[in-house]
Amino acid sequence: MSVESHSDPQALLAQLVAQIGAAQDEAALRAIEREALDKGGVVARLLAAVPSLPRAERPAAGRAANELKRGLETALATARERLREAALAAERSAAGFDPTLPAPRPRRGSLHPVVAVQRELEDLFISMGYVVLDGPEVELDWYNFEALNIPADHPARDMTDTFVCRELVAGQRLVLRTHTSPVQVRAMERLEPPFRAIAPGKVFRQETTDASHEHTFHQMEGLVVGQDVSVGHLVGAMKTLLRGIFGRELDIRLRPGYFPFVEPGFELDARCPFCSQGCSVCKRSTWIELLPCGMVHPNVLRAGGIDPERWTAFAFGLGLSRLVMLRYRVDDIRHLLAGDLRFLEQFA
Ligand code: PHE
Repeated sequence: MSVESHSDPQALLAQLVAQIGAAQDEAALRAIEREALDKGGVVARLLAAVPSLPRAERPAAGRAANELKRGLETALATARERLREAALAAERSAAGFDPTLPAPRPRRGSLHPVVAVQRELEDLFISMGYVVLDGPEVELDWYNFEALNIPADHPARDMTDTFVCRELVAGQRLVLRTHTSPVQVRAMERLEPPFRAIAPGKVFRQETTDASHEHTFHQMEGLVVGQDVSVGHLVGAMKTLLRGIFGRELDIRLRPGYFPFVEPGFELDARCPFCSQGCSVCKRSTWIELLPCGMVHPNVLRAGGIDPERWTAFAFGLGLSRLVMLRYRVDDIRHLLAGDLRFLEQFA
């Protein structure tokens, strides 16, 4: 390209536009672009020369250089579009091209098994008149322990099990919630009895992890507050829940269980849905421990601003992660949150 011979930018533009129009590939375009527009190119040199021109000529020279620049840019863009169209046309007319073939399918994700089971249970509970609540994962010590009637010397408060956070407000201890039960108290503060609520979510415990222990897992809290709510209602609700989960009636039994926020408290076991004579899931006992539950302690109702003389309540704490493991026969809880696609893709 003999660009130096042109002192007239308009003539130069015409020459370069003709070259651009004749270019057969991107490399040719790029070569022209480099010489004309890159650092040290013609346009840059023309602009650099402007200050040394007689004052009267400067505006026109500057304008001419800029017009050259814009003209080249437009011509290059047009040429590139022309090459793109040509490449496409060539591809279309090539042998073997079949425009009727379906486009490659986008890779689709799927719901995480915990989310899938959670949504299914939410639908079930909504159909029974429950509202679905959410609560903070970083929780005040008050809601996680104190308001739940868990005294300061209770082993559940053991700091080896609880992740403690830095205080934001002096004196207000923050922890990662160790269970979803704090949402019970938050619900009582917000909702007028009678009400029914569930609160699914993540909980955290500082555990040595193994196949059945993980520092982060999922629970689903349930709370029903009403007049004359009894253990009978609790059992009825739990049976409906199990029917919803396993698709049929399962025998259940209640064993006493101790949780400071319920009185009486129970461990509800269900007949193993997978066997009749004992298997690895029920560890040969034919019973599986499924649902800690009980009648809400009056102290907890009071902490939530509800009069225990007027209202009674039951609560349960479903182990969502455990249920997912049962349902899909997952043998190691650590699979659930490991983020390994080989595991997750099995639920697509
Ligand atoms: N919050 C208890 C736990 O995590 C479970 C529970 C919930 C027990 C509600 C009774 C009532 O172990």
